[in-house]
Amino acid sequence: STTYMGAAVPAGYEDQFSNGIETRPELQDVVIQHFDQITAENIMKSAYIQPRQGDFTFQDADNLVDWALDNNITMHAHALVWHSQMPSWMENYQGDWLTMMDTHVSTVADHFKGRVVSWDVVNEAFNDNNDNGYATYRDTDANSGGHGSPWYQNLGKDYIPEAFKMAHAADSGAELYYNDYNIEDDGAKLASVLRMADELLADDIPIDGIGFQMHVNYDWPSAQAIGTSFAKVVAKGLKVKVTELDIKMNPNGDRNTFTTAMAEEQKLRYQEIIKAYYDNVPANLRGGITVWGVSDADSWIPHFTGHNDWPLLFNSSLEQKPAIEGVANEL
Ligand code: XIL
Repeated sequence: STTYMGAAVPAGYEDQFSNGIETRPELQDVVIQHFDQITAENIMKSAYIQPRQGDFTFQDADNLVDWALDNNITMHAHALVWHSQMPSWMENYQGDWLTMMDTHVSTVADHFKGRVVSWDVVNEAFNDNNDNGYATYRDTDANSGGHGSPWYQNLGKDYIPEAFKMAHAADSGAELYYNDYNIEDDGAKLASVLRMADELLADDIPIDGIGFQMHVNYDWPSAQAIGTSFAKVVAKGLKVKVTELDIKMNPNGDRNTFTTAMAEEQKLRYQEIIKAYYDNVPANLRGGITVWGVSDADSWIPHFTGHNDWPLLFNSSLEQKPAIEGVANEL
């Protein structure tokens, strides 16, 4: 294929919604047949990998990485520094935060060194709000929709370059991404991410690219806005990776069944997004495209929105949906 095609997979003891791939041969078969990269949906996040200070629990993630490599599948690793799915000891840490972050980032990145091709180093550092065309750094809960960042509160925005330097020192071979959602609409949040990228590049911080999560709707954002957003990252010389693609077909909760017409609409939507990627990102800056799950039955979206959305490429029986043709048509 011309770039990585990836999928997030549930694995290990962690998953509140889906059984781990290690217990599901039929899911393994689909992943092996259709994808050449996977991301652990949860088990490399800090809550799972350092649940108690100094107690690193790598076994589930190691099993997944071994399975992937045995099957010629690459690993994209997610995520080193994030305000969510953090263990409570970390969130409430009273000591030196820079040292605590260094221990986490260095230990985890070093552990997987040589076995993962890339890392989401920092995830979701910005708010969605818009202040003079820019979004603010995620700070207090009040400003951040109930999810402020302890990283920002304790270290200010410098936690971002520091995290990249630590990750690079631990694993100089891995590509390092800044990852966020709602940046594919060419709005204030993308402007802030680009301004941050300028600062990091000016300071020679080892960042390779921007991860666009892309939890999008069937009708938002426009393919044109998505293409423009990719192009703005490319213009900085940074890679573009689509890290968590899914397409909500029922964002307003008013569609009760997944009709043939919706399946066709979704196929065209997947197709226009993949086309926007290939049209705007030159081969040397393509970090790949990952869908956030394989089967609709395993998607996080219904748990998040409270209703069915049929966002992925395979139905609940792991059969291909028309959407997969939309992807294949543009590869
Ligand atoms: C989600 C997982 O899919 C769920 O299983 C979990 O309960 C919550 O996190 N942005 C991210 C991902 O970067 O880590 C999130 O994954 C989805 C939003």
